[in-house]
Amino acid sequence: MNTAIEAGGLTKQYGSHRALDGVDLAVEAGTVLGLLGPNGAGKTTTVRTLATLLEPDAGTARVAGFDIVRQRREVRRRIGLAGQYAAVDELLTGRENLILLGRLLRLGRRGAGVRAAELLTQFELEAAADKPAKEYSGGMRRRLDLAVSLIAAPEVLFLDEPTTGLDPASRATLWRMVQDQVAQGVTVLLTTQYLEEADFLADRILVVDRGRVIAEGTSDELKRKVGGERLEVAVADAAALAQAASVLAPLAVSAPQLDERQRTLHVQLPNGMGALASAATALEYAGVGVEEFALRRPSLDDVFFHLTGELAGVPATEKAQKTEKAQKAEAAR
Ligand SMILES: Nc1ncnc2c1ncn2[C@@H]1O[C@H](COP(=O)(O)OP(=O)(O)OP(=O)(O)O)[C@@H](O)[C@H]1O
Ligand SMILES: [Mg+2]
Repeated sequence: MNTAIEAGGLTKQYGSHRALDGVDLAVEAGTVLGLLGPNGAGKTTTVRTLATLLEPDAGTARVAGFDIVRQRREVRRRIGLAGQYAAVDELLTGRENLILLGRLLRLGRRGAGVRAAELLTQFELEAAADKPAKEYSGGMRRRLDLAVSLIAAPEVLFLDEPTTGLDPASRATLWRMVQDQVAQGVTVLLTTQYLEEADFLADRILVVDRGRVIAEGTSDELKRKVGGERLEVAVADAAALAQAASVLAPLAVSAPQLDERQRTLHVQLPNGMGALASAATALEYAGVGVEEFALRRPSLDDVFFHLTGELAGVPATEKAQKTEKAQKAEAAR
């Protein structure tokens, strides 16, 4: 395996708080590693350390074949970083931002202009090229961030939450642009809060929590950890739900989970078509009015919840309300 990013025992302490507590990872060249984890897990710290913006307290890492501490300049020449807190000058236009960075990277006046024009085309920013970045929409801004990180045609690209806050269409556009880079052989390490983003883009996924790696694998491998496929049954009326549950319970691996509001239940059956057929027959025989009968594979959200106990998939606002409630309850105690 040709390893583009390799880290062992990375540790980073902020005062008494250990943000990274021995992170190991390896990313094969030309692949995408997705770093998943709840807020404060250490994702940004990992990215900034590997991108040589922070020095680890312990541990070692090599990026594009060079040591992140002893060969910082060599590393910097070969990487791009589009951050959670990106480095675009709001007052400059998209083109000016690109040219400025190109010149800082010693592409020369002409070279920088040519590269800027190339990137503006590639990232569909030609129409907005000469407007100040502060007038860009969120999606345009993220595309500019990505373009800026690619000026020097890096071998390794770090993307810290590249699509947070974008609408689904802009997100899909950005995903396609990241895939274009991977197709050209670029190695990508990305952090994300969106599990479907990791599912879609990442070859392998690392789940981090409190500065430690708590799981690693392909999306499918992680999903298998949560268990096999589950049968999802939706019933016509609420009364039928309990009936469906009691009919299916004897066939199931564990107790059926009910969702009264959605009038659905989830149940894990033994593997094989036989169990599925028995479930259908039993419901039919008991006269349960079934509206939907579907097999559902566990999602990455299920994995995330299983591993971290976090409310993945809950919209941020709802999450915030929950935290607020918890804080009020804490204060009342
Ligand atoms: N400059 C700093 N000084 C002190 N503590 C810090 C600093 N930067 C990060 N931390 C702490 O280190 C931990 C890891 O932070 P980090 O930003 O890496 O998390 P993250 O996984 O990127 O979170 P998020 O999903 O919110 O972006 C957090 O507890 C954070 O409060
Ligand atoms: Mg972060």
